[in-house]
Amino acid sequence: MEDLLRLARTMMTRAHAPYSKFHVGAAVRDEDGGIHGGCNVENAAHPQGWCAEASAIAALVGAGKRRILECVVIGPGPELITPCGGCRQKLREFASDDLKIHLCGLDGLHRTVTLGQLLPLSFGPHHLDGA
Ligand code: THU
Repeated sequence: MEDLLRLARTMMTRAHAPYSKFHVGAAVRDEDGGIHGGCNVENAAHPQGWCAEASAIAALVGAGKRRILECVVIGPGPELITPCGGCRQKLREFASDDLKIHLCGLDGLHRTVTLGQLLPLSFGPHHLDGA
């Protein structure tokens, strides 16, 4: 958790968020223990921006990995930062319901939840097995 948080914090400082000014960092642990980070990347054409979690997932997949075993998200402000709906589904592609997602603020860990809590009754890759 500490290594993921450290990486996510660094990623947060690299966010490209000139429009929302809301800098987010994320980090994920792969099936071999490696960690991968990402930040949100906004765009002047606003819908084209993407979230920190999506960047971290892309880094993991680009490194040849296919499973997410742990995840940290860090953002500013007093409210708990939780992955958006789209990112919950993106995480689901590479993780199971018991994936621990550590929700962090600038002062550290606020709460740990599971993907199953954030995305109950989810649609996943297994639905396509044998279809
Ligand atoms: N954002 C993330 O990167 N991850 C989250 O979990 C929540 C929201 C980004 C998207 C956008 O660049 C900014 O935060 C404001 O919504």
